[in-house]
Amino acid sequence: MTPEQAWQMILDQRQRPGSPAGAHWTEDEAAGEDEYARQLLRLFRPLVSPLPRGHSVIAQLGQSLDGRIATVTGKSRYINGEDGLVHLHRLRAVSDAVVVGSGTASVDNPRLTVRLAQGPNPVRVVIDRHRRVPDGHNLFTDGVAPTLRLVAGVPGRTPKLPPLPIQGVHEIACLTEDDGPIDGEEVLAVLRQLGLKRVFVEGGGQTVSTFLGAGLVDRLHVLVAPMIIGSGQPAFSLPEIDSLRDALRPDARMVNLGSDMLFDLDFRAGA
Ligand SMILES: NC(=O)c1ccc[n+]([C@@H]2O[C@H](COP(=O)([O-])OP(=O)(O)OC[C@H]3O[C@@H](n4cnc5c(N)ncnc54)[C@H](OP(=O)(O)O)[C@@H]3O)[C@@H](O)[C@H]2O)c1
Repeated sequence: MTPEQAWQMILDQRQRPGSPAGAHWTEDEAAGEDEYARQLLRLFRPLVSPLPRGHSVIAQLGQSLDGRIATVTGKSRYINGEDGLVHLHRLRAVSDAVVVGSGTASVDNPRLTVRLAQGPNPVRVVIDRHRRVPDGHNLFTDGVAPTLRLVAGVPGRTPKLPPLPIQGVHEIACLTEDDGPIDGEEVLAVLRQLGLKRVFVEGGGQTVSTFLGAGLVDRLHVLVAPMIIGSGQPAFSLPEIDSLRDALRPDARMVNLGSDMLFDLDFRAGA
């Protein structure tokens, strides 16, 4: 099996998770001798399998060896190399929704579409409580995939949801008006109501940390680039701990992608 065939198998499985074609293969049987195809199946099969809880959250961060996701001035293009970027696009392709914080949407002006791999574009979601992201940014103007802008709502008022299938740009007033951390569960609840079950939290550091700290992340992919920035924005910011017993220690697998080392972290293993 070639890597292209392996990737097609993953996309098929995503479309029809219960289909016999996808249900019975094992990585070794399906991939034969091709190491890259085997790696693809090993990494992505968990992400397209049936969802025991009805929904799933995968998050990613691309960081330097010293744990930075951007310079002090917010430049993050490109910490990861070509293989890391392809991996990022593959994560988008197996997700129903890709979520970013207002910081990332404002600074990077991302498109959040699938361009470096085959596969469908996810619904794009920006957590923009205070409408900080400029209206002229790609997510709101390029029209290549639907976008949901989640903003603060009026207490007690049920947010109006867009009709399905989601098309175009929609503002949903569903978040608590607050200056504290966002509530990741508020975001996920709205996405579930819209049938967006496989959620990919792409960044930035604050947003990923919020979901992680609340125990909402099932799987985390940390892409480490062989680079030392020496200063800049941290990947993870969680409440301080005193003992290392309280550190998060997920089930971990390391995969050499070529340009970057991937840490594939499973927070539900053994749960
Ligand atoms: N290397 C990578 O993988 C990667 C990926 C994505 C982004 N980036 C880089 O990361 C930087 C942006 O990251 P970021 O962490 O500053 O921003 P972010 O996570 O994109 O968005 C942060 C904003 O979202 C809201 N928010 C989310 N979680 C929050 C929390 N726990 N507490 C309070 N507010 C919260 C706040 O916006 P409001 O004030 O609007 O409520 C906050 O300003 C950019 O430089 C971007 O280039 C790197």
